[in-house]
Amino acid sequence: MSDLIRKDLKHVWHPFTQMQTAQAPILITRAKDTLLFSEDGREYIDCNSSWWVNVHGHGNEHIANAISEQALQLDHVIFAGVTHPKAIELSERIANLLPQLLQKVFFSDDGSTAVEVALKMAFQFWYNQGKSKNRILALDGAYHGDTFGAMSIGQRGYFNQPFEHFFFDADFLDFPDSSNENQLLEKADELFASGEFAALMVEPLVQGSAGMRMYSASWLDKLVAIARKYEVLVIFDEVMTAWGRTGKLFAMDHCALKPDIVCLSKGLTGGFVPLGLTVATEKIYQAFLAPEKTKALLHGHSFTGNAIACAAACASLDIFERATTWENIARIVKSHEDKISRFENHPSIESVRMIGTILAIELKSEEGNTYFSSLRDQAYDFFLENGLLIRPLGNVIFLNPPYCISDKQLHFAYSKIGAFVDSLSN
Ligand SMILES: Cc1ncc(COP(=O)(O)O)c(C=O)c1O
Repeated sequence: MSDLIRKDLKHVWHPFTQMQTAQAPILITRAKDTLLFSEDGREYIDCNSSWWVNVHGHGNEHIANAISEQALQLDHVIFAGVTHPKAIELSERIANLLPQLLQKVFFSDDGSTAVEVALKMAFQFWYNQGKSKNRILALDGAYHGDTFGAMSIGQRGYFNQPFEHFFFDADFLDFPDSSNENQLLEKADELFASGEFAALMVEPLVQGSAGMRMYSASWLDKLVAIARKYEVLVIFDEVMTAWGRTGKLFAMDHCALKPDIVCLSKGLTGGFVPLGLTVATEKIYQAFLAPEKTKALLHGHSFTGNAIACAAACASLDIFERATTWENIARIVKSHEDKISRFENHPSIESVRMIGTILAIELKSEEGNTYFSSLRDQAYDFFLENGLLIRPLGNVIFLNPPYCISDKQLHFAYSKIGAFVDSLSN
């Protein structure tokens, strides 16, 4: 064990990790494009874009230069009563990329805080108008982050059991599938008809942490239409689905009906530095305008609007303006599509699903679809031994690589996933 790892184990408390039983972490000292290089001379393909954030790969020079220039020009400045060119540029560009009504950009630090801001916007939108609408409808299996508001509207279970008694009540619709879609819409209609709902919050088209579970844009359109009928605000949590993951810039680009609020983070800065955005319609913004200061959105963070993060995000947007980025996304989509038949009807596989650059393979498991599935550890170790960093979600193995991944690297990943699933049925 290296000296650095010894120091890590002495002082570092890692996220989502049982420190007593976990293996020592891998010491990564350098990364470039899709590759992570470890201290002991090994290399790993970063198949899940380092918690789904590094959309353009590591060490991208355009983003690195933008960060460096910004750091020398203006690193950070208080964002209340002060503004700066990069925040203005980013807000304008984001508003131009989103559907026309989404115009007002609120800055925070990460996905969870972008969600907290969205919830506070929704609750206060009604509060400021003197209307009592305090309920939120979410989908079963949802994950919106690890802060208390986000946990309240997420799947209850092992992850948040110790805190559950602190959560505000939320209502959940079952996850839609071909057998229950209409029933769920009827249930939503019934719930919304109570007039008590402030908002509907969904991860559009894909529930990431639930195991890359996917549902159709047409069903979501129907759900949003019901929300509209009863004046329920619609929030799309696009923290995971934005930035080309679903094959389009935003998942909402697959939908006919658009949200009133959208949460953005992860790939927003190309995965270089943390940043969260909550973008709302002009109508929502207007409800916070009043002579009384108490009607304002009294929320903020020390790093709100950080100039370096804004510069990274603008540089990432530049890369999305390049044709090569979209050619790469299309190449990955095609490659996944061509590979599906390799995994379908496999005796060890329950189902294969894909949207855009996400390919998910759900393994058959007697433990069911659980994050603590023992298959998960088996798969994780197997992939590491083979030079792939793939962090399965329970019994769901998935690929959502940086868009610069080469065909050769993609095919290497498919072949090792194939070898792993074959080993389960032998
Ligand atoms: C859909 C969704 N929302 C919110 C979050 C929370 O983001 P963060 O981890 O940046 O707080 C995540 C994280 O995975 C997510 O997938």
